[in-house]
Amino acid sequence: MTRVAVVHGPNLGRLGEREPAVYGAVTLDELNHALISWGKGHDVAVEAHQSNAEGSLIDFLEGGVGRLDGAVLNPGALAHYGLALRDCIAALPYPVVEVHLTNVFQRERFRHRLVLAPVVAGQITGMGPLGYRLALEALLERLSGGWPRLSGQNVQGEGGGRP
Ligand code: DQA
Repeated sequence: MTRVAVVHGPNLGRLGEREPAVYGAVTLDELNHALISWGKGHDVAVEAHQSNAEGSLIDFLEGGVGRLDGAVLNPGALAHYGLALRDCIAALPYPVVEVHLTNVFQRERFRHRLVLAPVVAGQITGMGPLGYRLALEALLERLSGGWPRLSGQNVQGEGGGRP
C-alpha cells in the first residue's frame, strides 16, 4: 500500500477559526479526515501531521525516510522564508507536493516568493481544500511513473533549478 503524509505548517492548526474569510470554514480535522478517507478508497495510507515549528516539520519529514512514499505539504508562511525546510526537502528521497489554500500570487508581495519551489515536485495554489486532494492525486500519478520529471540538468539550464 502506498503511504503518504499530509503535512501542515504554522498556523494551519487553527484552520476554520483562523481568518475564515481568507482560509475558509473547514477545520484541519475535517480536512485530514476527508483526505484519510479518500486515501482508503484509493489504497493509500494517508497520515496527517501539523506543527508550528520548522524543526518539528523537518524531523517529521526526515523521519518519513524509508517509511513514506511521498508527502503533500502546506508549509504556511515557511513557504516564503523556510530555508532549512527547503534544504530538508532537497535531500529527501521521496517527492513532496506543495499546497496553498489561497492563491498566494493574488496576496501581499511577501507571499510571492516561494523558496521551496525549486525542490518540490510541484505546487497547487488557490484551490482551497480541494488542492490537497489534487496534490495527492498528482503525487500518486508521479509515484506510478506517469508524471515525468525534469532532469537536474534541464532545470539548471533554465536557471531555476536546485542550487
Ligand atoms: C498559506 C499561504 C501562506 O502565505 C500563509 O502564511 C499560510 C497559509 C495558504 O495555505 O494559503 O499560513 O500557506
